[in-house]
Amino acid sequence: MKFLVAGGAGFIGSAFIRMLLGSPPAGSSRECAVLNLDKLTYAGNPENLAPIASDPRYRFVHGDICDAKLVETLIAEARPDAIVNFAAESHVDRSILSPAPVFETNLRGTFTLLEAARLDKTLHKTPRFLHVSTDEVYGSIDPPHDADENYPLRASSPYSASKAGSDLLALSYFTTYKMPVLVTRASNNYGPYQFPEKLIPLMISNAFEDKPLPIYGDGMQIRDWLYVDDHCRAILAVIERGREGQVYNIGGSRALPNVEVVRKILSATGKPESLMTTVTDRPGHDRRYALSSEKLMRETGWAAQVPFEEGLRETIEWYRANPGWIARVKSGEYQSYYQSNYANR
Ligand code: NAD
Ligand code: TYD
Repeated sequence: MKFLVAGGAGFIGSAFIRMLLGSPPAGSSRECAVLNLDKLTYAGNPENLAPIASDPRYRFVHGDICDAKLVETLIAEARPDAIVNFAAESHVDRSILSPAPVFETNLRGTFTLLEAARLDKTLHKTPRFLHVSTDEVYGSIDPPHDADENYPLRASSPYSASKAGSDLLALSYFTTYKMPVLVTRASNNYGPYQFPEKLIPLMISNAFEDKPLPIYGDGMQIRDWLYVDDHCRAILAVIERGREGQVYNIGGSRALPNVEVVRKILSATGKPESLMTTVTDRPGHDRRYALSSEKLMRETGWAAQVPFEEGLRETIEWYRANPGWIARVKSGEYQSYYQSNYANR
C-alpha cells in the first residue's frame, strides 16, 4: 500500500510512519511505501524519523499542504492508495495567542489536499482520504456520558473550531463527491517524541529539571489519555476496514483529572508535589473530554493495548533516555537537523 502522509514529522504522524515501516510490518501493509509531506513548523522534527530515514520505501518532501501545485504534483507522482492528513497547528494555547495559523493550515490546508485528491486525473481510483481529527470538536462533554460520533459539535477554541471545520469539510467530500473519506476523532495522545508544550511531556521535562509544574485553574479538567501507538494502530485499522464517509472516535478509556496525571508523573520521577503550581486558567478551557470508541471496536476489531500506567512509565523512560532530543527541541537546534542531514542529499 502506498501512503501519502501529510504532517508526518510531528508527534503522531512520525509514530504512524515508524509503525508502517517498522518490523514486523503493521496491518496488511507488507508492501508499503510512504511519502511524507511536511512543512517543518516548530512542531515538525525530522529527527523523529531518524529510525527509518534511510529506508528506501520512505521519501520526505519539505513543503506546505496549502501549496496546491506541490500537492497535485505529489499525488500524480506518488499515486497513493491512501492519504492521511496529520498536518495541523495542534496546540490550543498557541491558537488562543495567535489564531491565524490554525485557519491557514487546518482549514485551507485540508481543503487544498481534498481538492487535489478530488481533481486528480492520473489516478485510476481516488485514494482513501483519512482526516485525523480530534475529540476537541465536541467541546466540553457533559458528564456522566462518553461522547459517541453523534454528539453535537461545540468547539471552544480557535484550534478546535478549525478542526471541526476541516473535519466537516472532509465529510462533505464524501456526501457531495463520493470521495472515499474517513474521519477519526481521537482523544489526548501521549508518548515518546511529543513536543514539550503539551501537558505530559512538559510536566515530565519540568520535573526532571526541578522546575514548577504549571496547573491551569483547579486542575480538575478531565482528559481521556490514549497512547500514541494505540492511536496509530486505530488509524491503520480505519484505513483498512473502516466504512467510507464514517467518523470513528478513538478514545483511550482512561479519563483522568489533570492533577492526577501530574501527581503520577511526580511520583514516577521521584519529585515532590510541592513543584505543582497553580497558574491562571486557559480561557474557554473545556472541562471534560471522554469518548466512546464502541463503533471503532465493533467495526474494525481495534482495542487499546497500552494501559495508562504502562504507557506513562514507558514515556517517562523515553524522555529520561533521550535528554539530547529534549535539549535540541528546547534550544531550537532541531530545526537545523533537516538542513544538516537531508537537505543536500
Ligand atoms: P504536531 O503539532 O506534533 O505535528 C504537526 C505536524 O504538521 C508537524 O510536523 C508540522 O510541521 C506539520 N505541519 C504543520 N503545518 C503544516 C503545513 N501547512 N503543511 C505541511 N505540514 C504542516 O501534532 P500531533 O500532535 O502529531 O497531531 C497530529 C494530528 O492529530 C493533528 O491534526 C491534530 O489535530 C490531531 N490530534 C492530535 C491529538 C494530540 O493529542 N496530539 C489528539 C487528537 C488529534
Ligand atoms: P494539552 O496537552 O495542551 O492538550 P489539550 O488542551 O488539547 O487537551 O492540555 C491538556 C490539559 O492540561 C488541558 O486541560 C490543559 C492542561 N494544562 C495544564 O494544566 N498546564 C499546562 O502547562 C498545559 C500545557 C496544559
